[in-house]
Amino acid sequence: MKNLCLLSFFLMLISCNKNDISTIIDSPDKKIKVIFFLDNGTPYYSIEKEDKLILKKSKLGLILKDNVFLNNNFIINNIQKDSYKNLWKPLLGEYKIIENNYKELKIELKQNKKILFLEFRIFNDGIGFRYTIPNQKNIKNYDIIDEITEFNLSEKDSAFWQPAFSYRRYEFLYANTRIDEISKKKYSELVEDLSFDSIGFDAAQTPLTIKKNNGLFISIHEANLINYSSMTLSPKGKGKLEALLYPWSDGTKVKLNESIISPWRTIQIADSSSDLLNSSLILNLNEDPEKTEDYSWVKPGKYMGVWWEMIGTNESTWWPSEFHGANTNKVKNYLDFASKHNFDGLLVEGWNKGWYPEWCCSGNGIPFNFIDTVDDFDFNEITSYISDKNISIVGHHETGGQIENYENQLEEAFKLYQKMGVKYVKTGYVNDVSKNIKRIEKDGNVFKEWHHGQFMINHFQKVIEIAAKYKISIITHEPIKDTGLRRKFPNFISREGAKGQEFNGFSSNGVNHATDLPFTRLLSGPMDYTPGIFQLNKFRFIAPGTNELDYNAIVPSTIAKELALYVVYYSPMQMAADLPKHYKKHPRAFEFIKKVPVNWESKLILNSKISEYLTIARKDINSENWYIGGITDEKQREFYLKLDFLNPKHEYLAKIYQDTKKTHWKKNPMEYEIKEIEINNESTIPIYLAPGGGFAIEIIKN
Ligand code: NOJ
Ligand code: CA
Repeated sequence: MKNLCLLSFFLMLISCNKNDISTIIDSPDKKIKVIFFLDNGTPYYSIEKEDKLILKKSKLGLILKDNVFLNNNFIINNIQKDSYKNLWKPLLGEYKIIENNYKELKIELKQNKKILFLEFRIFNDGIGFRYTIPNQKNIKNYDIIDEITEFNLSEKDSAFWQPAFSYRRYEFLYANTRIDEISKKKYSELVEDLSFDSIGFDAAQTPLTIKKNNGLFISIHEANLINYSSMTLSPKGKGKLEALLYPWSDGTKVKLNESIISPWRTIQIADSSSDLLNSSLILNLNEDPEKTEDYSWVKPGKYMGVWWEMIGTNESTWWPSEFHGANTNKVKNYLDFASKHNFDGLLVEGWNKGWYPEWCCSGNGIPFNFIDTVDDFDFNEITSYISDKNISIVGHHETGGQIENYENQLEEAFKLYQKMGVKYVKTGYVNDVSKNIKRIEKDGNVFKEWHHGQFMINHFQKVIEIAAKYKISIITHEPIKDTGLRRKFPNFISREGAKGQEFNGFSSNGVNHATDLPFTRLLSGPMDYTPGIFQLNKFRFIAPGTNELDYNAIVPSTIAKELALYVVYYSPMQMAADLPKHYKKHPRAFEFIKKVPVNWESKLILNSKISEYLTIARKDINSENWYIGGITDEKQREFYLKLDFLNPKHEYLAKIYQDTKKTHWKKNPMEYEIKEIEINNESTIPIYLAPGGGFAIEIIKN
């Protein structure tokens, strides 16, 4: 104990009470250290990396119903240390093989006759810890009233965050402020007015990215979120954040009939913004599928959709009208184009009954029907039309956040889609009011729940599991955040869960959002951003059936940047979101979308500055080819890319798609040049990125 008291300048707050045992565990490379200790019976942890402080003394504990305070009066009953190292193969992913290498610390804490286990895993790229409360005689009720977990950072650290407890789930731009400034008030000043959205608390969603004052980067998130409530982070002053779980309508945070295993609380730790993107910690803290489950039917792919013409160009409607998008003839035309260009899927939205002009977004609309088709969409005809084509319909279930209505039809709806050969379904939960998900009890009583509470976590899980029964993969819009469950449930193939391209259709994300996403939302997992818009201005009509353009609508990007996003934003199910008529104008640029893979052997971050620019190289899993994507914010940049990662034994052809010196996201977004050059691993390629632009390179082995 004496040694520990002297151990570190940063850890001065460790108690030296002789009854409080402390323990230190480090990462396999010995750079990260976690110190666990009791201070007068209260459990704490702190973290440092080499000589730098990550977290100061931070509290741990849970409070259960019936005044069971599992956050003090503990003694340490047992401590076990272990280490683990293996390699595993994800079914789909950014890496063919992932190393899972950690040291483990299991602590059994005892309080009178009650037991709580704390389990830490320390990796080279961060840590995870979780609470386990086994069934025991002296605990009668396992409902969680509060989680006490703290993340005690420094006042000077800066956070990239979006507000929790707000009306539009995760579909917000990011704010960058000091940790103590995380609040709806600050967000309203800096980004978007939330003054009307006053229920709930001041907290940030996770993953929360923090640039530490000492130069390190961290991301706080959670892994393996099952049958629990989603964690947000609430500022408590002086750089301290506390876990705040979304409550049920009665205030309980988590309802459990028996024993508790919490999700992992995770802290990814990196020396640079590039390193932050290299971590597989979230997946490593998830489990493999059950041995009895076969997910070999889950396939990555690319898809187009009867979609942008509703949400972007505004030429069509979801609902029956003269301009209804999902009519049999139009769907056939899309299918011809998409299958000719080797796409795996075609999303069809507006195929079912329930759509009408005011469908959005109150949570109170006419409930959708997921079985019956609208009159001008002949599902049988479409199914036989594609029987000799190698393409599947990507089905669509917009629930409007009406959960009971959806759950009542789930089995039938997936059964129908399976019968029609549908392999993927995009689900949606638009309900733009805070705490507005109706939970209807058996007696008919209605309670309003949060989108991210345990009720919805369990709903999303149910959908994934029922979809798997029918061999259907799910792309969720307005989802719960990704916590790595795709490892165990690979058919949870992708999800939205951020402000995606759609907002550039009906509003705007601004030019700097695209470079925020990789350092924030994308740290949690793949995103259905829906890249690939080629007609970046003069695309939106003021109403279906008019020729009048909405000149205000622009996608703040360049064509070269839209191509880059296929490499920069990982998703095993990647959309080419624009209309065939727009792709026909740029057949050579469209070639890149056709060729870029969606499943990878490895990735390398070639350069990055958080929120400003990023270049990623990925190697195809099925060939020796490489793909590079780079994006910048509103600033133009010049890079010299060293290709020394290529195999020295090979020669390659590089096809470069880049902005020209005249390209500009606002003034001239659709100008690009395509160059082909012979290269090898000694080559360096000069690249120009226009303001708001980017580039993409296909590197083909000769
Ligand atoms: C919002 C989704 O993000 C979008 O992709 C979808 O088209 C609409 N909801 C309608 O379901
Ligand atoms: Ca959405």
